[in-house]
Amino acid sequence: MSEITSIPGVGAATAEKLTSAGYHDLLSIAVASIGSLVEATGVSESVSRKMIQYARDNLNMGFESGMAVMKKRELVTKISTGCEGFNNLLEGGFETGAICECFGEFGSGKTQVGHVLATQLLKSDPEARVVYIDTENTFRPERIIQLATAAGLDHEEALNKIMVAKAFNSDHQMLLAEKVDELITRDGQNIKLVVVDSLTAHFRAEYIGRGTLAERQQKLNRHMSTLGKLSSTHNLCVFVTNQVMSKPDQFFGDPTTAIGGHVVAHASTFRIYLRKGKKGTRVAKLIDAPNLPDGECCFMVTEGGLLDV
Ligand code: GTP
Ligand code: MG
Repeated sequence: MSEITSIPGVGAATAEKLTSAGYHDLLSIAVASIGSLVEATGVSESVSRKMIQYARDNLNMGFESGMAVMKKRELVTKISTGCEGFNNLLEGGFETGAICECFGEFGSGKTQVGHVLATQLLKSDPEARVVYIDTENTFRPERIIQLATAAGLDHEEALNKIMVAKAFNSDHQMLLAEKVDELITRDGQNIKLVVVDSLTAHFRAEYIGRGTLAERQQKLNRHMSTLGKLSSTHNLCVFVTNQVMSKPDQFFGDPTTAIGGHVVAHASTFRIYLRKGKKGTRVAKLIDAPNLPDGECCFMVTEGGLLDV
C-alpha cells in the first residue's frame, strides 16, 4: 500500500482500487497499460499515463553487480533436514533465498519434510519463525511436538514460533502468501521458512479440464512470483510440496510427472523428487539445482525425524 500511495495523485481511495485490482507495487503499475489502470480506478487517461511514468521513473529496475549478487549469496543459509545423506545432497540443506520444491506421490514424505524443516530451523536459529500455509489440512501440531522434542527443543515454544494458516481455496492461498510480506515488514516477524503444503492441490481441484488450463497456469504463475519475490527479498526459504500425475504416453523411465508444468518447474530453484523405496525407505532425487550436481539419497521417516539409511 505505502509504495503505491507515494505516486502523486494517488490517494487512499485510488490506492484501494489499485490494490483490489492486483496492483500492489510500483512494478505492477510500471508494466501496466494505460487502459487497464483507467478501468481499475476510473482516473483519466492522462492521470493514468502519469502514474505509469512515475512508477517507471522511481522503480529500481533491479540491475546489480555480480559482486552485489555474491554478497547476497553469502547471506544464504541452509536449513538442515536433520539427515546427513539428505543434507549432503543439498550441500547442507534447503537454501534460503530460494523456492525449494518436493514432489512425489501420496505418502512419499513431502508433508513430513515440511514438518522436519520447521523444527530443524527452530533448532538452529531460535530467533527464526515459520509460516505454514496448509491447504490439505495435514499440518499436525502433535508431529511438531515429537520432532521438536527429538531435536531437544521446548515443544510449546516451537509451536508458538510456527504460524499456521489454512487455505480454503486457491484464491485464499494466494492471498495468504501475499500477506507474509506484511508479517515481515509491518509486524517485524523474523520469518525464515514459508511452507506451502500443498502448492498445487487447490489449483488442480478447481481447474478441471483442458479449457481451464491456461487460466490455472496464469494464476499459478502469479502465485509462484509472489513466493519467489518473498524468498529473495527477505532471504527466506519457501518450501513447497507438489503432487505427481501419471503420464499415460510415457513407456520408458518413470511414468510420473509433477503437477503445474513449466510454471512450477521454472519457478522452483531446487526440485526434489520423493518416492517410496524398499522396506519403507524414501528416496530423494535432486532433479534441478542451479549449482549442485544431480544425485540421490535414501532415508527413513521416523518418529524423531529423518534418518539415514
Ligand atoms: P500426500 O500429501 O498424501 O501427497 O503425501 P505426502 O508425500 O505428504 O506424505 P507424508 O509426508 O504425509 O508421509 C506419510 C508417511 O510418513 C507415512 O506413510 C509414514 O510412513 C510416515 N510417517 C509419518 N509420521 C510418522 C511417524 O510419526 N513415524 C514414522 N515412523 N513414520 C511416519
Ligand atoms: Mg502431504
